[in-house]
Amino acid sequence: MANLGPPPKIELRHVSKSFQDLKRGRETVAVEKFSLAVQDGEFLCLLGPSGCGKSTILNLVAGFEHPTKGEVLLDGEPILRPGPDRGVVFQEPMLFPWLTVLDNITFGPRMNGGRPEAYLSAAARYITLMGLSGFERHRPYELSGGMKQRVAIARAWITDPKVLLLDEPFGALDAQTRLMMQELLVRVWEQARTTVVFVTHDVEEAIFLADRVCLMTARPGQLKEDLRIPFDRPRNYEDLVPDKRYVELKRQVFHSIREETIKFMSQDAGAGPA
Ligand SMILES: Nc1ncnc2c1ncn2[C@@H]1O[C@H](COP(=O)(O)OP(=O)(O)OP(=O)(O)O)[C@@H](O)[C@H]1O
Ligand SMILES: [Mg+2]
Repeated sequence: MANLGPPPKIELRHVSKSFQDLKRGRETVAVEKFSLAVQDGEFLCLLGPSGCGKSTILNLVAGFEHPTKGEVLLDGEPILRPGPDRGVVFQEPMLFPWLTVLDNITFGPRMNGGRPEAYLSAAARYITLMGLSGFERHRPYELSGGMKQRVAIARAWITDPKVLLLDEPFGALDAQTRLMMQELLVRVWEQARTTVVFVTHDVEEAIFLADRVCLMTARPGQLKEDLRIPFDRPRNYEDLVPDKRYVELKRQVFHSIREETIKFMSQDAGAGPA
């Protein structure tokens, strides 16, 4: 019998993406025959060694790039361009330095002619949720790295996107701030239940955050493992660290990533100097 249920929130079908590398005068196949379905409300972490194509996948879903082959779908419809239904957060917060926290957060709806009553009340909610109360009138230079990234996340979330795409958003933060940010992100996600694709190369971060961890091979990136994370929510590291299942899962993922990193390094050595 045909499956008449709703399509996955995000679907990549046999996606390949190549780039013309002008410097080396050759084509780089970033991703090859990559297929993945992300269900509505799922928190998925995409994990893989450097250069395996994680950002490429995210940029395809964001609509910043187009696949060379295959299809990228949102609610069953091809993604043709970026849109407000997909919020994006990068490693660098990329705030407007001359705007206040409030004006940065409300930038999208203000530009799209949103109703001030609606976007100001959404902004107030996310300012509270992201722990930014009292900083509404501050400018980015007055904020710590973690706070800037909280502003960037609030900005991506206030439009209530169908999907939130985060590309190593905590990669530039110190270890302690990073843990706090992970906890904060999950707390807000548990209320909003937005479908999340979170790119990281940090194994512990992926296991702590995700419902599912998708592990990629070295370039050209393909899906290597698709792991369901069995731990109940809310999670905390103090309970996870001594848990035998956590220790084993971490070992398995580290092993897999290491294998791919070694492959990647030997590939690069074979390619000669850039
Ligand atoms: N616009 C581009 N032009 C040329 N090559 C590109 C472009 N974007 C990505 N690539 C190449 O595609 C491959 C995958 O890149 P991508 O940035 O997706 O990897 P990544 O997994 O996000 O890496 P990292 O962990 O370092 O962020 C790399 O070899 C990269 O050099
Ligand atoms: Mg990247």
